[in-house]
Amino acid sequence: MKDKQLSVSAIKEGTVIDHVPAGVLFKVVSILKLDKVGTMITIGNNLESKKLGHKGIIKISKVFFEDNEINKIALVAPSAKLNIIREYEVVEKKVVTIPDEIVGIVKCVNPKCITNNEKVTTRFDVVSKPEVRLRCHYCEKITDRDNIEIL
Ligand code: CTP
Ligand code: ZN
Repeated sequence: MKDKQLSVSAIKEGTVIDHVPAGVLFKVVSILKLDKVGTMITIGNNLESKKLGHKGIIKISKVFFEDNEINKIALVAPSAKLNIIREYEVVEKKVVTIPDEIVGIVKCVNPKCITNNEKVTTRFDVVSKPEVRLRCHYCEKITDRDNIEIL
């Protein structure tokens, strides 16, 4: 477990998202719109992990997310663990929970869906957890976990 601290250095203040499965790390980056964040971000991927085999870690300095914002990542990374860092110390640990409704992050699988043809924000009910299945509010088609495409 000490390896990862050598791979990606400690931060002074901010959020550490740990135990992200390696294959979805960049989906998490996209869901949280980290390309729009101006503070220091350090990312490690394919790090060794006893629990996950290979994992990813994302450290975002000086940013503390609202629960409803960070919970969106549970769609693709339900195993993620959040660590809130203040003055170099972990002051809080949190897990993510899958929301009941998803607005505007995921693309509907149905090419004929209005959301794929007009300027309409996608909206889904989460009809199964933790193996996520999403039912489109507009066309009722099911988008399952493996088909989730982030907008
Ligand atoms: N971390 C960090 N900067 C700090 C303190 C911690 O980036 N100033 C990171 C560590 O690298 C680790 C995570 O925050 O990835 C959690 O830290 P800690 O609780 O000390 O590590 P573990 O005991 O290994 O946590 P867990 O087993 O809960 O993953
Ligand atoms: Zn649809």
